[in-house]
Amino acid sequence: MFTHSAAYYDLIYDWKDYASETTKIRSLLEGAGSLLDVACGTGQHHRYLKQDFAVTGLDILPEFIEIARAKNPECVYHVGDMQNFDLGQQFDAVTCLFSSIGYLDSLDALAHTLQCLARHLKPGGGLIIEPWLTPDAWVSGRNLSTTVSQTMHKEVCRMSVGQIENEGGELPVSVQQFGYLIGSVEGIEHFSETHRMSLFSQDQMLAAFHQAGFDCVYSDEGLTNRGLYLGRLKA
Ligand SMILES: C[S@@+](CC[C@H](N)C(=O)[O-])C[C@H]1O[C@@H](n2cnc3c(N)ncnc32)[C@H](O)[C@@H]1O
Repeated sequence: MFTHSAAYYDLIYDWKDYASETTKIRSLLEGAGSLLDVACGTGQHHRYLKQDFAVTGLDILPEFIEIARAKNPECVYHVGDMQNFDLGQQFDAVTCLFSSIGYLDSLDALAHTLQCLARHLKPGGGLIIEPWLTPDAWVSGRNLSTTVSQTMHKEVCRMSVGQIENEGGELPVSVQQFGYLIGSVEGIEHFSETHRMSLFSQDQMLAAFHQAGFDCVYSDEGLTNRGLYLGRLKA
């Protein structure tokens, strides 16, 4: 996953408008006070969400949690796997953003995750999931891309190429190879990562929400162009 690239995550995604995304999240979670953000990465959303919510973040990568903590000392952070964690606390709302849900590798993992998130919500609490692509939305042949970002002292180039596995099967998977070049006056470092992400269908997502005790709708009008699942835990 992001093991090698964690330190460059914020630079690579410097085009992402976290401020306007959080404005939308805030409007969807009106009335909530406490918020758990799972798969929170480097805590970029929290820079804005912490103005209105008591924010707790959880991520599987300790490197990300360290960055998030340094950025947002007011927030509470935990290293954990969203499929199975126990914070011994219930929140008014839970979020799982920027397609992090796609890193789950099976329908069972999706079911366990939604059940785990339900246990961390108060009755009537809201769950927002920003999904990865559905199988229909994956367009073969358009999966080569390059991003270049720079600071005063470093330049980062990431090239990615994606393929689909198990196309037409119950759960197709996108497999993206990321190649990184990190340049500075000291020299050029290069490394690569593989990101495997499940292409859950809308029916599979909605079924997992319902099985975990949520009413849920899918909204095309998301934070970006990936849509949103808006769930409410039945009281
Ligand atoms: C694309 S990043 C999104 C990070 C952040 N939500 C954002 O919007 O910038 C995906 C995140 O999912 C996390 N992740 C993947 N699998 C996970 C799991 N099983 N439990 C918790 N976090 C996970 C990764 O470590 C990474 O931080």
